[in-house]
Amino acid sequence: MKALIPSGGKGTRLKPLTNTIAKQLLPVANKPILFYILDQIKDAGITDIGIVISPETGDFIKEAVGDGSRWGVQISYIIQSEPLGLAHVVKTAQDFLGNEPFLMFLGDNLIQGGIKSFVREFKHHVPDALILLKEVPEPRLFGVAELDTSGKVSHMVEKPKEPKSNLALVGVYLFTPQIHQAIAQIKPSWRGELEITDAIQKLLDMGREIRSHILTGWWLDTGKKDDILEANRAVLDEFLKEDMQGEVDSKSRIAGKVEISKGTKIENSIIRGPVSIAENCQITNSRIGSFTSVGAGSIIENSSMGFSIILENCRISHIERLEDSLIGRGTEIKRRQEGFKIIKLFLGDDARVEL
Ligand code: G1P
Repeated sequence: MKALIPSGGKGTRLKPLTNTIAKQLLPVANKPILFYILDQIKDAGITDIGIVISPETGDFIKEAVGDGSRWGVQISYIIQSEPLGLAHVVKTAQDFLGNEPFLMFLGDNLIQGGIKSFVREFKHHVPDALILLKEVPEPRLFGVAELDTSGKVSHMVEKPKEPKSNLALVGVYLFTPQIHQAIAQIKPSWRGELEITDAIQKLLDMGREIRSHILTGWWLDTGKKDDILEANRAVLDEFLKEDMQGEVDSKSRIAGKVEISKGTKIENSIIRGPVSIAENCQITNSRIGSFTSVGAGSIIENSSMGFSIILENCRISHIERLEDSLIGRGTEIKRRQEGFKIIKLFLGDDARVEL
């Protein structure tokens, strides 16, 4: 069995961050989202993995993941020249997939508890598709499945204006090679994409067996800023291990689950976990509140923050309270101390600032 990880797309809803980083590489708890997916695929016993990349961000992904030896897996890279939909991704990867069953796990989805049990169930029953569903408050943003009275999937629609259920299709699917025949019969949707949802509906029309599971644990689709912050919260809450490798002076206080990596110095500061601080940071006269991750090489002085992700090599100075924020690499945020009301900014394209 193989695995396919679609990791293309332009990351439009995360610009300007995604001008210089692939959205699948944005870190939660200081580890790229894609790495959690690779961990879970490996854990399910699949080692032959194809990552589908775009010409725009593919090189960032190649550089970060390499040949997969870090996970003990083998990675093949497949270029999708344009984002024409998930069924198009499968079509593009047809040579890699050959005539084998496969798992498709979207490179920006995170699910609690991994996929081992679903892979096992798929191998045991061999339906033509096994899909995961999750009750969501806004189903019209996703593929939506309807179930009949016996709980079997009866119909699926991609981003319906008037959803008939609140069950969204999670971005984790298992298929037999039968899916290729279904894809060959579908047309692009109103958004111009070959939708995997339409291909699974086609399998149903062809009388093929589809199994489904309703997830009870969390599922995060990390396409927007708040989704990434929520993913950071969930991952810090669940996976963070207390680990104290940096230096903490006697005037500082550490409470709750906190990870402080090598080379990091904490001086006269309060860290209230769960918090992850990567290597070689300097935190001085500051307060880092719950559900915050600070990337390597960042400097935080005379500031207070919570529920945020700070990427690598940032400098945050004299900021009274930073909340719900996602700060790109190498960003400097500082406030003049004299109570000056003037704001001076140097921002990239499409930046958003709330003061
Ligand atoms: C895609 C699928 C959709 C699914 C979602 C899960 O949406 O088309 O059916 O619910 O992933 O993340 P997209 O990311 O293309 O908007």
